[in-house]
Amino acid sequence: MDVLLGLDVGTSGLKGVAVRASDGRVLATALREYPLYTPAPGHAEQDGEDFSRAALEVLGELASRLGDDVRAVRAVGLSGQMHSAMLLDEKGELVRRAILWCDTRTTEECRAITRTLGLEGLARTARNLALEGFTLPKLLWVRAHEPAVFAKVRRVVMPKDYVALTLTGALGTEVSDASGTLAFDPVERRWSHAMLAAVGLDASLFPEARESQDVVGGLTRAVSEATGLREGTPVVAGAADNAAAAVGLGVVRAGRGMVSIGTSGVVLAHTDALRIDPELRLHSFCAAVRGGTYAMGVMLSAGGALRWYRDVIAKRPYEVITDEAGTSPRGAGGVIFLPYLMGERTPHNDANARGAFVGLSASTESRDLSRAVLEGITFGLADSLDLMRGVDEGMVPRELRVTGGGARSAMWRQLLADVFDAEVAVTSSTEGAAFGAAVLAGVGAGVFTSVADAADALVRVTERVSPDAESAAYYRGAHAAYQSLYGALKNTAAFGRR
Ligand code: XUL
Repeated sequence: MDVLLGLDVGTSGLKGVAVRASDGRVLATALREYPLYTPAPGHAEQDGEDFSRAALEVLGELASRLGDDVRAVRAVGLSGQMHSAMLLDEKGELVRRAILWCDTRTTEECRAITRTLGLEGLARTARNLALEGFTLPKLLWVRAHEPAVFAKVRRVVMPKDYVALTLTGALGTEVSDASGTLAFDPVERRWSHAMLAAVGLDASLFPEARESQDVVGGLTRAVSEATGLREGTPVVAGAADNAAAAVGLGVVRAGRGMVSIGTSGVVLAHTDALRIDPELRLHSFCAAVRGGTYAMGVMLSAGGALRWYRDVIAKRPYEVITDEAGTSPRGAGGVIFLPYLMGERTPHNDANARGAFVGLSASTESRDLSRAVLEGITFGLADSLDLMRGVDEGMVPRELRVTGGGARSAMWRQLLADVFDAEVAVTSSTEGAAFGAAVLAGVGAGVFTSVADAADALVRVTERVSPDAESAAYYRGAHAAYQSLYGALKNTAAFGRR
C-alpha cells in the first residue's frame, strides 16, 4: 500500500489528511487551530511559527493514527492560504508576522501600482489587478511603513512555502502561489521583471518558482524525530489552496470548474491556456497542472455571510436554515440579500460595499430571509460565472464541482444548478485543498504520471444535479434584479458614501 499525506495551511487552522493511493480513501485526518491577529482595523496577521508548530503536530498525529502503515507514506504535499506574505531574513528567519490575504491595509500601495502601470501595464506583466490582498502591495507597505523591518527582508514566500522550509530546510515556491503575488507572470510562468522594475523591488526577493508536483526536498532528521515519519520522505511543492482544492475535485481539464463555499466563495474555471479578461475583473493564475491555468472570481463573504446570518439573525443551526429556506418560494417572497459584509472583490472590487436585505414587507417570514441569504450568496457566485461568459464562452465550465459547506445541502445544490443554469456535481473527496495536496504528493512521488491521471484515479463524481429549466429562467430575471442593487446603493450612506 502507498499512503500520501496532504497539509493545508489555512486561515483558521492547519489540516492534514492521509490518503490511500490505490483508491483515494481518507485513512486519517488531523487539525490544529491557531490565532488570527487583528491589531488595527483592516489588518490581519498570523505568526509563521504557529504554522510550523501546527505542521509538525499534524504530521505527528497522522503518523500515529496510521500505526504500522506509517511505513507506507510515500510523500507529503502542501497547500495553503494564498497571497499571505512571509518575510524572511538572510538566515531564513521570519522578520515579522505574516500579513494575510484578507488584510486590506494596502489600498494606497495598490493605487500607486495601478497609477504606475495602468490597466494595460498590469495586463502585460502580472495579468491581474493590483488588489489589497495580493503579496506585492504588502511588501511595498512594509517598505513604506516599517523601513527597519524591510531592510532585513531577503526573501518572501507564502505560508505553505514557509512550512516546506521548516520540513526540509529548502526554500522555494511554485507557480500557483507565485501567481497570487502580483510579481509573477502566469502566462510565461516566471517572475515578472518588468513588474519588479516598475515598483523598484529586487528580483532576488522571490525564490525559484517550481511546478506544483515538483519535489522541494526531504523531511529533515529533526522533523523525522518529531513526527515519526521517515527521514528523507519527499516533500512536494504543492499549490495555493484554491488550485489544490481544484485538483482535489478533479478540476484538472478545460470545461471543468469549481465552486467553493467556505468563508469566502470561489468560482474557478480550469483552462489550457490563460484567457484574460481585458478588464482583469477575474484573477488569472497558474493551475497546479503542468502548463494549466485558471480564471477565478472570489467573493469575500459567502459562507461567512451565512454564518453571520445564523449567529446574528436566525440563531438556528445551518440545517434548520437550509430546510426552512426550501419551504420559501423561489425569489424569497420578494426579498433580496446582498452578501457584501466584508466589502467585495469579484465583480465590484470595492472595500466599501456593504450587505443589505431589500424588499422586506409585513408578510416577510423568517424562512424568506433564510432563502434570500442563500439566493444572494448564489447570485454573488453567479456574477463570476457571468464575467466568464462575457469574456469567452470557451472559458465557461460545462460542469461545476462544488465543495465547502454549500455542497452539503441538497436544496442549495439545486439552487446553484438553477441560478448558474449549469450542471453541478459532487465528488467523492470532501477534504478540499488538503486532499488536493495529497494528490500532488502522489505525482511528485512518482505514484502517478500526471496530475490529471492522479485526479482520475482518486476522484469520482458521486452526484450530478441538472438545472430545472423553469427555475433557471426565473432566476435569470431575479439575478438581474440583484445585480441592479449594487449600483443603486453604491453612492449612498449605506455604503459609507453620500
Ligand atoms: C484567493 C483568496 C482566498 C485565499 C483563502 O484569491 O484570497 O481564497 O486563498 O485562503
